[in-house]
Amino acid sequence: MCGIVGYVGPRFAIPILLDGLRRLEYRGYDSAGIAVLNPAGEIEVEKTEGKLKKLLEALQDGGPPGFLGLGHTRWATHGLPNEVNAHPHADCQRRIVLVHNGIVENYASLREGLLARGHKFVSQTDTEVLAHLFEEEYDTLAKDGYGVPILPEAVRRGLKRVRGAYAIAAFCRDEPQVLVGARLFSPLIIGLGQGENYLASDIPAIMRHTRRAMVMDDGEVAVLTPEGVAIRTLEGEEMHREPLQITWNLESAEKGGYPHFYLKEVHEQPQAIENTLRGRLDGNRVSLSEWAHLDLSEVNRVSIVACGTSSYAGLVGKLLIERWAQLPVEVSVASEFRYGAPIVDERTLVVLVTQSGETADTLAGLRLAQEKGATSVALTNVMGSSITRGADATIYFQAGPEICVVATKTYTTELVLLCLMALDLGRRRGLLCEAEVAEVVEELRQLPAKVELVLKDEDVLKEVARQYGHRRTFFFIGRNLGYPTALEGALKLKEISYVHAEGYPAGELKHGPIAMLDEEAVVFAIVPQSDTYEKVVSNIQEVRARRAQVLAVATEGDEEIQALAEEVFYIPPTLEALTPVLAIIPLQFFAYHVAIERGCDVDQPRNLAKSVTVE
Ligand code: F6R
Repeated sequence: MCGIVGYVGPRFAIPILLDGLRRLEYRGYDSAGIAVLNPAGEIEVEKTEGKLKKLLEALQDGGPPGFLGLGHTRWATHGLPNEVNAHPHADCQRRIVLVHNGIVENYASLREGLLARGHKFVSQTDTEVLAHLFEEEYDTLAKDGYGVPILPEAVRRGLKRVRGAYAIAAFCRDEPQVLVGARLFSPLIIGLGQGENYLASDIPAIMRHTRRAMVMDDGEVAVLTPEGVAIRTLEGEEMHREPLQITWNLESAEKGGYPHFYLKEVHEQPQAIENTLRGRLDGNRVSLSEWAHLDLSEVNRVSIVACGTSSYAGLVGKLLIERWAQLPVEVSVASEFRYGAPIVDERTLVVLVTQSGETADTLAGLRLAQEKGATSVALTNVMGSSITRGADATIYFQAGPEICVVATKTYTTELVLLCLMALDLGRRRGLLCEAEVAEVVEELRQLPAKVELVLKDEDVLKEVARQYGHRRTFFFIGRNLGYPTALEGALKLKEISYVHAEGYPAGELKHGPIAMLDEEAVVFAIVPQSDTYEKVVSNIQEVRARRAQVLAVATEGDEEIQALAEEVFYIPPTLEALTPVLAIIPLQFFAYHVAIERGCDVDQPRNLAKSVTVE
């Protein structure tokens, strides 16, 4: 939800800002803008409606020179996605300029007060209120003779009047060496360079320049100059932060010859899974050191809290934990969990699954778990992301950066991680013997190679997408471990090709949706070898009897299924527990090639953002 970037140092800011925005565009792409302090000491702003490409075109001549600047790529919340509402926003005197990611919840009352005191607004955004608040505080401080730089203190005072969520980068015309950052519930990191420093919403934006970063905490304001960084809380307490070393490599944030990040990330899955397993398989055992310190002996229920794709991974996690650790598991969509009355107490283990680590509702789930005294474990892909703050343990996917807005490799690595956790829980509770764990561990070791085999079928899926991609209604059906795959397959198709698709438990189709089936409909059946194989086959028969077209994902060697489906996509045999990792891959390809057939923007689907930092 909006990407922000800032620079202060000896180099021209604009190329650095634009490169950073390019790497943050996955966070929003309704409009984009930059501001720099030009050599005459004036703030110059350039903003455009639409994708970053338009801004790049507008700045073809390189834009104004300047060594202090900030940039923004927007996912609209308040106000239409047009040029006026695009960030950066400035105060009345064009002395202070800023970019913002988040929502100012009390903006209406703040704006009313500011209007009454003579401030003039040009946009419909909540963000513009911040520029005027800072202006007001700045004027007061200047009048009182506050020593320069004044902006950090003005920001601190202004933000105390704000309710909501923010990550902010700001600078002032009169303080040419000072960049100010602040955060509350929206991510912001500081990149540490040699004689230069950076602000950004996410690591890929600064990776080209530095591998040393600091993650800001909620309620902090940072002052960046070319020489250094100082962090204080809103109350003014000085904070010390150890820099962290960024281990992702730059190539992983580039397309590497693929037409889209989506396709690249689908093909990266063998490596990503290998990375997730790295250091976590010890001989025949699972070794999850990240949560080894937690005493789970009193845990009597598990609550998995997540959104979207991550919640589907959670459904697989539930089945595995119930199977191996014999604990009751509830999976909640975070936006519902936070407003319900969930049964969570000191004996509950709350598992928060979020690739970005920044999903607002999932973060609220963490707070609720903390309030109720539960033990919380965060699963995330992003180092130092908000979910890691406050959780009793954090386990990283280690999947490398996922740039495409929709999740692919983070989904399969979530599945692998939840499988490891379920095994570990089962062992800790004394319910799995060594041989049982060893059998799964052995299969996990072979998983990357098996994923590689499924990836070889891309061309077949491409052809099938060409044949069926123009249909209007798609159902994805599966039972038990096949059901989350059906949900995720349908979501992928909806997200990137805007085709109507529904994921259903196969047995549930006849309780309503079957009425929609006719010869036009396509039903994707997830039917690998499993305890429910025959049941799904019966459901396929029901579908065929309504003349719908059937496409099936099945296990190699299953010839029976060929007579029941127009096309069959085979996955190698594996343990049933691991079939979701393999079965989703044909569906990822199908969604991709349908999207290409339909001319959709795969990496940046309309209306979506990778990191959903608002409710
Ligand atoms: C789907 C997708 C979303 C996310 C959801 C949660 O491709 O990416 O459904 O899964 O927004 O995001 P995280 O996992 O970052 O909490």
